[in-house]
Amino acid sequence: MLEKFVMTDITALKSELATMIEAANDLQSLDAARVAALGKKGRITDLMKTLGGMDPETRKTTGQALNALKDEIAGLIARQESALKKQEMAGRLAGESVDITLSPRPEKRGRIHPISQTVEELTAIFADMGFTVAEGPDIEDDFHNFTALNFPPGHPAREMQDTFFLNSGELLRTHTSSVQIRHMESHKPPHKFICFGRTYRSDYDMTHTPMFHQIEGLMIDKDVNMGHLKGCLLDFVRAFFGIDDLPLRFRPSFFPFVEPGAEVDIGCSREGGGLKIGAGGDWLEIGGCGIVHPNVLKNCGIDPNEYQGFAFGMGIERMAMLKYGIPDLRTFFEPDVRWLDHYGFDPLSRPNNATGQ
Ligand code: DAH
Repeated sequence: MLEKFVMTDITALKSELATMIEAANDLQSLDAARVAALGKKGRITDLMKTLGGMDPETRKTTGQALNALKDEIAGLIARQESALKKQEMAGRLAGESVDITLSPRPEKRGRIHPISQTVEELTAIFADMGFTVAEGPDIEDDFHNFTALNFPPGHPAREMQDTFFLNSGELLRTHTSSVQIRHMESHKPPHKFICFGRTYRSDYDMTHTPMFHQIEGLMIDKDVNMGHLKGCLLDFVRAFFGIDDLPLRFRPSFFPFVEPGAEVDIGCSREGGGLKIGAGGDWLEIGGCGIVHPNVLKNCGIDPNEYQGFAFGMGIERMAMLKYGIPDLRTFFEPDVRWLDHYGFDPLSRPNNATGQ
């Protein structure tokens, strides 16, 4: 009789506790359910205490049934606990998620920095002419930044560039011309590539910042000459500034790594105090170029009797300032969001002068 009563009791208790555990919708109420079932004064514990007053046979079967109940309830609690924890984590993750999709509202959208925009434009134009893109490190050694580029040891041109030297004996590259060397060392001619990157010089005023960007171009083949160089740069400036009759001239100049070397000027007018790019009788310097010096080719294991070609280099900020009328170079690197709102670009618009436009 007693046994029958206890077994019915156990079945009822089991479904009561299971309901309570399932209803627990947070860890706190689940813990309350655990205490109510298995705690010192819990329902199962209470029943365990009655075992002492039973005859041995009943005690055995009831004890076994109670132990099974205990295990089952503990299992249910563990299962519910892991479900609640998962739920809690999912809730937390949902709460902390960041929406990385672009907002359709332009006032809520970020802007593309003029440097990034200009790099995109330069890439598009030179890619159209068949140039690939090469890369090199910002931290350079003397060999790649100077020696291989035909700067003799102790030559004053090394000091011209206000180099940042590192304690390691390395330096921060003063120009992207070092990438010419790295690329020619590791690839076989012919070469036809551009490279972009940060360059560093200890200088700071309206037109100089200690870090700035350059674009470098190199083309080496068996019969590349000054005419190809001039045609390439003429096509480039006309596409970049979007002016079909933009004049370009070379002014003889010295760079150790080219011979002959030239500075590149484009036409402009300064009438009325403002600067306007285009045919106007005045000239504005935008970069340097020349025919790669035979010593540079030799330093990279290329036979100058078989190969020749041209190189050019320009400041990217300067190109952006001229194209977009940005007056002060230093503002490029001041994190002022109003400046970026004004001079930055819509991320959804394609860079102008891109292929097909
Ligand atoms: N590396 C030069 C500079 O930073 C720019 C330059 C001039 C690059 C002539 C060239 C070049 O490739 O041919 O001032």
